[in-house]
Amino acid sequence: MRRPLVLAAVLGACLLPATAHAQTAADPAAVARGEDVMQVNQGRTLFLEGCASCHGQDAEGTDRAPDLHGVGAQSADFYLRTGRMPLAVPGEPPLSNPPEYEEDEIQALIAYVGSLGGPAIPTVDPAAGDLSEGERLFTLFCAGCHGKLAKGGVVTGAIAPALDQATQVQIAEAIRIGPFVMPWFDEKLIDQKELDSIVAYVEKTKDPDNAGGWDLGGIGPIPEGMVAFFIGLLALLLVSRLIGERGE
Ligand code: HEC
Ligand code: HEC
Repeated sequence: MRRPLVLAAVLGACLLPATAHAQTAADPAAVARGEDVMQVNQGRTLFLEGCASCHGQDAEGTDRAPDLHGVGAQSADFYLRTGRMPLAVPGEPPLSNPPEYEEDEIQALIAYVGSLGGPAIPTVDPAAGDLSEGERLFTLFCAGCHGKLAKGGVVTGAIAPALDQATQVQIAEAIRIGPFVMPWFDEKLIDQKELDSIVAYVEKTKDPDNAGGWDLGGIGPIPEGMVAFFIGLLALLLVSRLIGERGE
């Protein structure tokens, strides 16, 4: 009964180093860049099935869709997670949809497109931003299309969506990419701190009930206050019992 198991273990031990070696042998430069070669290969397979008909076998672009060299993980992450890609019909505007792929497939496709060069997925830290500065910049750069409270609006040839569905990273990505007819903003126009501020403001608009208060941290002080209240109550009860016992 044990033999097949032992055999499998021996085989496994022989195969493991072999596959590991095959990976490193594939593209030493890619490994040096810290890429997960297996994941990139999985992404390439998915790409050939679902994307190459428009973007070309090597993502070099066709008359139906653009070259993806240099757009980076940033663009792939945005277009796949907002369900804009894969486009169903060439020539249609890329609209926000539920994502078509599973999480591991999305990551593989991002790894593949990322391996063709271009910007990484941006980082965002709304806490490092400034809310009133964010409101000022949003009014200046974004409100003309998306509306002052980011509820959306109509632009020539397109609809600027409400921004309540976009995650913080997706807001940052949209700013840097400029999807479809939206203009893009580079570091010179909107630097990292300003980007953080804009994201902080958009996050704020997602919570209309809070629009008057504009208090970010929210819940913190309340439970603390309640804990203090109950400790106080307990102390009072103890003291009154002690006094009561003494009085007997
Ligand atoms: C039916 C054709 C079609 C298919 C299939 C398709 N795309 Fe696209 N893709 C397009 C078009 C057209 C655009 C340009 C959209 C625009 O103008 O904003 C685009 C744009 C993109 C962009 C943005 C490029 C940039 O400039 O930032 C990415 C990333 C992308 N596609 C990835 C994919 C991936 C990954 C798949 C497969 C899962 C895929 N696409 C499948 C047609 C297609
Ligand atoms: C000229 C009009 C215009 C301006 C200015 C503009 N946008 Fe957009 N934005 C659009 C359009 C149109 C889309 C939809 C593109 C698409 O469907 O592919 C969009 C999409 C987005 C999305 C994706 C939303 C989603 O749910 O997927 C975000 C986030 C966004 N914009 C944020 C911003 C921010 C932040 C600014 C200012 C820095 C800005 N936009 C400036 C027109 C604009």
